[in-house]
Amino acid sequence: MSKGQLVYSGKAKELYTTSEPGVLQVVYLDQATALNGLRKDQMSGKGQLNNQITSLIFKYLSEQGIANHFIKEVSPTEQLVTKVAMIPLEVVLRNVATGSFVKKFNAVEGTVLNPLIEFYYKNDALDDPMMNDAHVTVLKIATAEQVAQIKAQTLELNQTLMPLFEKIGLTLVDFKVEYGVTPSGELLLADEITPDTCRLWDRETGKSLDKDVYRKETGDLIGVYQEVLARLKQALAQ
Ligand code: TMP
Repeated sequence: MSKGQLVYSGKAKELYTTSEPGVLQVVYLDQATALNGLRKDQMSGKGQLNNQITSLIFKYLSEQGIANHFIKEVSPTEQLVTKVAMIPLEVVLRNVATGSFVKKFNAVEGTVLNPLIEFYYKNDALDDPMMNDAHVTVLKIATAEQVAQIKAQTLELNQTLMPLFEKIGLTLVDFKVEYGVTPSGELLLADEITPDTCRLWDRETGKSLDKDVYRKETGDLIGVYQEVLARLKQALAQ
């Protein structure tokens, strides 16, 4: 299947059409960004690492009965996914207080949450404002039924991902996911699940094995992503 036209260009990936109308090709880029794109760096190998990590996780989720857009890897940096109409929401689930939650509410870092789900409107010009369920439905970003489904599916996803990360010595502190809608109207988990979109704390050392090492300039992003991939490969090979 050959790569066609560029249909989306994001901070960390590009999407192309393919000869199959319902299938898109994702290219993971060697680019790291922080502060909504204000800081940007080329990082050789990041695209390969994120493509492999998200592919392993989505394959595992499919095996666990959690439907998602992933079809297959087609090169070290590329994968095929089911084409969906993306809902412009960043759905954040927090198991532990850190990041913007601590900053916004002066909460105590490390407090265990229930977990908590937050919605952010995906809109760079507006700087991705946080919204509640009513904002989402009033602005017709999603229906009330879809909001309920998004919450239930994200909680279920957390219940599946937490033990996987625990098995590889990591705490799933928080994550961001995005959903799309298939032509038949079904809600489908899409986008990526990588250390760009999750916070992962080593259960022994407490150290971050995620993009916080780049955001806070505390470590080598490629080194920690390699560590996450190696641990995932080991756990999922068993
Ligand atoms: P936050 O604490 O900065 O709001 O981030 C919460 C989680 O969401 C964290 O795992 C990082 C992820 N995230 C993204 O993937 N993309 C984003 O644009 C933001 C703001 C957060």
